[in-house]
Amino acid sequence: MAGKKLLIKHAAELVTCAGTSPKQGAAMGDIGIIPDGALLAEDGKIIWVGPTAELPALDESQWEVIDAAGQCVMPGFVDSHTHMVFGGYRAEEFFWRLGGTPYLEILERGGGILNTVQATRAASLEELKELAGRRLAGMMAMGVTTVEGKSGYGLDKETELRQLAVMSELNREQPVEIVPTFMGAHAVPPEYKGRTDEYVEYIIKEVLPAVAEQGIAEFCDVFCEQGVFSLSESRRLLEAAKSLGLKTKLHADEIVPLGGAELAAELDACSADHLLQASDAGIAALGSKHTVATLLPMTAFCLREPYARARAMIDSGAAVALATDYNPGSCFSHSIPLVAALAAIQLGMKPAEIVTALTINGAAAVNRADRVGSLEIGKQADIVILEYPSHLFLVYHAGMNIVDKVIKQGQLIWSKAINIS
Ligand code: NIG
Ligand code: FE
Repeated sequence: MAGKKLLIKHAAELVTCAGTSPKQGAAMGDIGIIPDGALLAEDGKIIWVGPTAELPALDESQWEVIDAAGQCVMPGFVDSHTHMVFGGYRAEEFFWRLGGTPYLEILERGGGILNTVQATRAASLEELKELAGRRLAGMMAMGVTTVEGKSGYGLDKETELRQLAVMSELNREQPVEIVPTFMGAHAVPPEYKGRTDEYVEYIIKEVLPAVAEQGIAEFCDVFCEQGVFSLSESRRLLEAAKSLGLKTKLHADEIVPLGGAELAAELDACSADHLLQASDAGIAALGSKHTVATLLPMTAFCLREPYARARAMIDSGAAVALATDYNPGSCFSHSIPLVAALAAIQLGMKPAEIVTALTINGAAAVNRADRVGSLEIGKQADIVILEYPSHLFLVYHAGMNIVDKVIKQGQLIWSKAINIS
């Protein structure tokens, strides 16, 4: 989708986040702000960025011109961890948890993820696509231009492939780019209860090869958790995925500290996600690698679990990304503003670090730092324009959607003036 020629000028703040690899440690604080900034894009790509006063001479009648006076212009957000293709809802479960029933106990009893598996197996491709399409539109309105989506509510070959097919079709039919992840090892389905090793075998022998053959997923992810998949099962699964050419991610140390952060670093996974209980050694391991530490503070908030130690991770030199974890169970929200507020208030992240975590580091977590996540020459013109003059308002206007315009590959795809939300 090539955009028309686009000129944005007089941005109070143009935040570039320039870079083509994950920003680690202290580098996360450098977001390259250009005051009174401008940008040119052609054929969907950025061709110039700099101060408005230095714009090359051009005939404005040939360009789509946006005057961003009083506004902040920044890279489109990359939500690098979601489970957005699912059937059914689990509203009651939210209140059981608040009443004291632990998340893993609900899963152990055959509810939780397995409840969504039942509803997703029963849903057609069209139904799942309709639902996911509406969810994507909601994410776009919050400035998301690239989103990762996982399967993992099928837990059988047919339904896992159906979830991934939904993402491929949506990629062709709407503007937000979806990065598909196969997560057949999200839970053990009822028909394999008590036979986890046989289920792992089934995924490796039957499902992963079909996924790889269809070229329908870029990543493989595993829920490495007590009572779900052990460290050694997770290692087996991810090594098998790697041998078939998939990149890897890991749900690591979410509820019980198992050493998932260390495993993700050892396997050079693209990201280790959650990390609420990551050990000192796990944090140090992430600091020494390019594996992105993807933090999901809304999940800790909704589960009332302790927050991830973001400061220790950044201080150890890790690259931190922030994402929503949008799913029907542990976190039924795709609110980028709430992620930003929790990151500042509960994780102690600085506003510039939050911007890095939602843009270039999110892009790195989905292996796209060479294409998106920053505003610089050669990158896709995926841009968010805020209603306010500085990135500080992302946190300061707590929990509010302050996105005014969203641009994907040089084309305006969402504007507050048209869509009152
Ligand atoms: O990232 N922890 C495992 N998976 C999801 C939750 C999925 C669900 O509860 O449906 C998560 O929190
Ligand atoms: Fe998740």
